[in-house]
Amino acid sequence: MATSRHAKIIGIGSFLPAKILTNQDLEKMMDTSDEWISSRTGIKERRIANAEEFASTMGYAAAQKALAQAKCKPEEIDLILVATMSPDYAYPSTAALIQAALGASRAAAMDIQAACSGFIYGLSVAKSFIESGAYQTILFVAAEKMSALLDYQDRSTSVLFGDGAAAVVISASGNGLRIGTTSLGADGSLAEVLFAPAGGTRCPITAETIEKRMHYLKMNGPELFKHAVRRMSHAAAECLAKSGLSQEELRWLIPHQANSRIIDAIAKSLQFPKENIYKTLHKYGNTSASSIAIALDELCAEQPISAGQHLLLVAFGAGLTWGASLLTAEPINDK
Ligand code: ACO
Repeated sequence: MATSRHAKIIGIGSFLPAKILTNQDLEKMMDTSDEWISSRTGIKERRIANAEEFASTMGYAAAQKALAQAKCKPEEIDLILVATMSPDYAYPSTAALIQAALGASRAAAMDIQAACSGFIYGLSVAKSFIESGAYQTILFVAAEKMSALLDYQDRSTSVLFGDGAAAVVISASGNGLRIGTTSLGADGSLAEVLFAPAGGTRCPITAETIEKRMHYLKMNGPELFKHAVRRMSHAAAECLAKSGLSQEELRWLIPHQANSRIIDAIAKSLQFPKENIYKTLHKYGNTSASSIAIALDELCAEQPISAGQHLLLVAFGAGLTWGASLLTAEPINDK
């Protein structure tokens, strides 16, 4: 529906843990090689949170940067959303923990669970709250401590993921990146392609589930690869079509940073030039919900986005879930 009220990203920030785990480090921990990991995924290293770093603390650090850039005080925030699949606790929400840490006394708080698609789902939720007039200012954080979910005896999954967070301030006023069309999808019949068998109410953790390592992330990589290419290509094309844009009109494509071969296949499917695709996966691996947000923050810091330029974000993750979102840079004086 057409609306005169627009949701825009007016501040952004990210946080990456200091500890770097390289492919060479992994060679010493398991039967793998830099050659295998680099050629199959494009990942060279990833960040690993320490014992005192969690989704909430990393998210809080990113949020402070985003709020500073937006010149927004915690008490101005109406709602805090957090996209994470690695929350501090099953409950309460990580959003509530960040609300308390910031002293955002007016803010409501909730988590969004859409795995690696969490940033796109969250943008869509924030846009709806803003454009309906329900809220004026939303802090949206994506934060993941994936290392806590991984089995470092499983070389097929543990080499892929890393930790990190990013945050955006989304507002109805001010200048920024306007959130345009979003396109979301899911197929829960494929839930077990990427899941943790134990740890929920269906299969609570017991000595036996721990012994069988069932609380760790399990993934059918080749099956996911196939769906990731198909679903992200389709979501990107659908979002462009709904926006009335062609891929030539995009300045940047920021895909979920899971695997450079998946990204190359999407570029080929969309006939999109590789040099206009922004990647961070070589240095951070797959940071799940945080990956697109971290990449967006680094892109904005590296090169100014000029007024009128379009960026397309596209994600895919457990669920299965997928989605795409168009961002458009506003002219500086557009209020
Ligand atoms: N080092 C060395 N060898 C390995 C490693 C490793 N780290 N991991 C697996 N292998 C071996 C396997 O054991 C297998 O050996 P075999 O042939 O002797 O049995 C061989 O490598 C090939 O394994 P495949 O799984 O077929 O390798 P593939 O080319 O499919 O690459 C990969 C695997 C990288 C996981 C790929 O399938 C992929 O990226 N899939 C998508 C994953 C993804 O995007 N996940 C995140 C979704 S987002 C979210 O919601 C969290």
